[in-house]
Amino acid sequence: MSGKSSVGKVERSTRFDHSSKLEGPGKVFDVQLRSSKSDRKTDLRGQACEFRFPALLFLIPIAGAPQIDMKIDVLTLFPAMFSGPLEESIIKRARNRGLLDLRIHNLRDYTHDRHRTVDDKPFGGGPGMLLKPEPIFEAVASLAGENSRVILLAPSGRKLTQYIAQDLARCDHLLLVCGSYEGFDERVREYLADDELSIGDYVLTNGALPAMVIIDAVTRLLPGALGDGESVHEESFNHGLLEYPQYTRPANFRGMQVPEVLLSGNHAEIERWRCEQAKARTRQRRPDLLIHSDRTQSTTQTEL
Ligand SMILES: C[S@@+](CC[C@H](N)C(=O)[O-])C[C@H]1O[C@@H](n2cnc3c(N)ncnc32)[C@H](O)[C@@H]1O
Repeated sequence: MSGKSSVGKVERSTRFDHSSKLEGPGKVFDVQLRSSKSDRKTDLRGQACEFRFPALLFLIPIAGAPQIDMKIDVLTLFPAMFSGPLEESIIKRARNRGLLDLRIHNLRDYTHDRHRTVDDKPFGGGPGMLLKPEPIFEAVASLAGENSRVILLAPSGRKLTQYIAQDLARCDHLLLVCGSYEGFDERVREYLADDELSIGDYVLTNGALPAMVIIDAVTRLLPGALGDGESVHEESFNHGLLEYPQYTRPANFRGMQVPEVLLSGNHAEIERWRCEQAKARTRQRRPDLLIHSDRTQSTTQTEL
């Protein structure tokens, strides 16, 4: 699962406003500052086009070969953390079905010193170490293309929601950049990232678990990822509401009865009951979702 993508093997030439040159074994990067931030990002990622033709050759569908719906690359210092969770269940199935092309890359593969250094002390002092910009800029230049969304994992990012996962599931390519130590040099945020995502208001040791959370949330939304009978439509958050209560057999378990309506066979009644339950549960447990429900074309607070 590890190793650089085919795109990463391409050579690029270097240009920079201040004649700065970033070089590495087998790679030279074209970097040019421009006025707008997005232009700068594009250039700083070194998205030169010389290699587009050979890269496209890999995309021409071979008869019988599965069509890839989404590509996700992950940049991390801990590739081994990803074995296991991404080789089970829905993610495994999506990968086997060719819906998801997932690759894990070691940030240290983009260093050039003997110690494969990725971190350094913060200017101005302070505790801990920061991820240096050079390896990350080099990796992003190597892995990102025109249709990539480069996402930093950061506690200070936008908090991941189902709404954001749905948005990400429509992308062609995600490049998830995991932080470690005290996080990133600010220039990575400013010049490379399209987005910064947090998985909640707490601090984890590094970005591997947050990346896996995002991969899971997004993969199950890819068309064809879920099996027959599985559906994302009825799940919590999909309509801005929590899921209604569910029961399975037996109808009477140790005297605990399943609500009569669910045994009635009256589908309109069942639908109404589920809707009321979902609204009541959301109102009670997560009233904040109702305030934001206008973003998901769903029930508004006044209706509830
Ligand atoms: C120890 S944390 C750094 C925390 C940073 N000093 C701060 O105060 O925001 C190291 C890395 O773990 C990842 N991380 C930790 N908590 C996270 C969260 N809640 N959401 C997303 N990423 C997180 C980020 O990639 C972060 O750069």
